[in-house]
Amino acid sequence: MPSRLPAVTQPVTTAPSPGAGHDTTALLRGATARVYADTVREVADDVAARLVAVTQPFSGASRSELRSLVDAVDLDGPPSGTREALREAGDLYAKHAIWFHEPTYTAHLNCPVALPAVGAETMLAAINTSVDTYDQSTVATFMERRLVEWTAGRIGFAVAEGDVAGADGIFTSGGTQSNFQALFLAREKARRAGTGLESMRILATAVSHFSIAKSALLLGLPDGAVVTVGTDADGRMSPDALAQALVDIERTGDTVIAVVATAGTTDRGCIDPLGPIADLCDAVGTWLHVDAAYGCGLLVSPRRRHLLDGIERARSVTVDFHKSFFQPVSSSALVVRERSDLAPVAWHADYLNPEENAEPNQVDKSLQTTRRFDALKLWVTLRALGADGVGAMVDAVCDLAAAVHQDLATDRDFRLVGTTDLSTVLFRYQPEGLDAARADALVPQVRRVLFDSGRALVAKTVIDGRPCLKLTLLNPDATLADIRGVLELVRSAAHGLLAGEALLDIDEPPCRDVHPRLARADQTADQTADQTADQTADQTADPDADGETR
Ligand SMILES: Cc1ncc(COP(=O)(O)O)c(C=O)c1O
Repeated sequence: MPSRLPAVTQPVTTAPSPGAGHDTTALLRGATARVYADTVREVADDVAARLVAVTQPFSGASRSELRSLVDAVDLDGPPSGTREALREAGDLYAKHAIWFHEPTYTAHLNCPVALPAVGAETMLAAINTSVDTYDQSTVATFMERRLVEWTAGRIGFAVAEGDVAGADGIFTSGGTQSNFQALFLAREKARRAGTGLESMRILATAVSHFSIAKSALLLGLPDGAVVTVGTDADGRMSPDALAQALVDIERTGDTVIAVVATAGTTDRGCIDPLGPIADLCDAVGTWLHVDAAYGCGLLVSPRRRHLLDGIERARSVTVDFHKSFFQPVSSSALVVRERSDLAPVAWHADYLNPEENAEPNQVDKSLQTTRRFDALKLWVTLRALGADGVGAMVDAVCDLAAAVHQDLATDRDFRLVGTTDLSTVLFRYQPEGLDAARADALVPQVRRVLFDSGRALVAKTVIDGRPCLKLTLLNPDATLADIRGVLELVRSAAHGLLAGEALLDIDEPPCRDVHPRLARADQTADQTADQTADQTADQTADPDADGETR
C-alpha cells in the first residue's frame, strides 16, 4: 500500500539547527512525521514478533538479575538515538514484562487488551490531548462526555439533558481514584450539611477494596470511620447486618456518610445484594456508592446483566474499563446519578477555567488537572467491536470460571474455596491426608515456584483467615484446557515441594547414593560456603514476607 504520509518537508538531521542548541529532530511534528511512522511501525513489529514468540507469561528472570540489568543502564550516558534506545528498552522491558494476554496468566485483575484500543492508544499518545479544559481538548471533551452518558445509560441512570438534572461523571486513572472521588463527594455533602469529620462513618464489608479505608484516611476521617458490615459466607454484604449497623450508628449520634457496596469483590468476585442495600440507604437517606471496578463488565453482558440489578439506585458508581472492558491501563470512571453532586470538586483558576468561563471544562469535575484522553480507547473499542462484542467476552470469562469451579469440585487433590459471581477461582491444594497447616504453607510456595518458572502466574490471598491460591480469569481466549494446564502445574509444584520436604526429613537421602551430582563428595567445603554467602546476601537485600528470596 503506498504511504499516505507527506514527503518530509525539511531534511531530518541530527545536527542542531543554527541557534537552536538542541536536536531539532527529537520532537514529534510535521518534519519528523515519517520518522514517527517508521518508529511506531518498528516498535509495533518488535512487539508483534514477541507476541508470536512468547510461550509463557514471564521470562522467569530473578529479581537480582532484573535489578542488575536495570542498574547497568547509564541514564547519564551518551545518547544512543531513538531506534537504539527503543531496542534496548525492548530487550529490557518487553523481554521481562508480564504478558497478561497469555492464557496461563491468571494472577490479578489484568485483562488482555482490545486491539482497537491499542490502536487508539497510539493515536492519543501522539496527539497528547489533555482533557482538562475545552481549549486543550475540543472534540475530545464531547467524546468523553458521550461515553460518560453512555455508561450512565447502561447503569440505568437518567441522563442529563441541557439544564435538566441527571447523571454525569468523569474518567479517572483507576478504581482507587474513582472510589476516592466518590467518598470525597459524600464527605463534602455531609460536611456542608454541618456534620463534623469526627462523627462521619462509612459502612462497607471487610472485603471492600482497600482504597475505601485509604480514602477515609486521606479524607481526614477518624480512625475507625470505616465500620465493617457483616456478610454471608461468600463475603456478600448482609442486608440485615447493614440495617443493624445503620441503627447502631444512629444511636451513637454519628452519621453514616456513605454505604459502599461492592459489585465484584477483588478476591471472590461476589456482588453485594444491591437492591436490598439500596432499599436501606433510601430509607435513611444515605449515599450509596457501588464499587463496580471489577463487575462493571456486566453492564454489557448479554447474559448476566441482571446480576447488577439495583445498581441504578446508587448515587455514585465506580467502573474500571481497564479491568473488564479489555482496555489498556488506565481507563476508569466515576459516574454519579445527579450531576450537582460533582460540584464540590470544581475549582477555578484565572489562567485555566475562570468561573465565568462558559466553555465545557472537564477539569471542573475532576480531581486531576492534566488528564489523558483515555476515553478514546473505549470509544474506538465500542465502535469496532460493539457493546455486545465486549459483553460476550465478559460472559466468556464468567463461563470459564464456572467450568473451572466444576472441575475443581470433583478433583480430589484440590479444595475449592467459595463461589463467584464473576471470574475468580479460589482453591487450595489439599489432598486427603495433608493437614491444614501444611496445605496453608504450600500456598505461597506453590505460587512462588510457578512465578519463578514464569510458566504460569497465579495469585495468593487469605480467605477466612487461611491462605489460598487465586485465579482471576479475564482472558476470554483462554480455554478450559489452558486452565487445566495451570492446575497441573500447581499440582506438580505442590508434589515437588512435598517430596522435597520429605527428603529433608531424611538424614541421609537415598538419592545421594545413586545420583552422582547429589553426592556430598562432589562438593568442596569452599563451594558450599560460597553458595551460602550468596543466598544470605540475596535474602538480606530483598526480604519477602513469604521468605521468598528472588
Ligand atoms: C473492587 C475493586 N475496587 C477498586 C480497585 C482499585 O482499582 P485500581 O487498581 O484501578 O485503582 C480494585 C482493584 O483491584 C478492585 O478490585
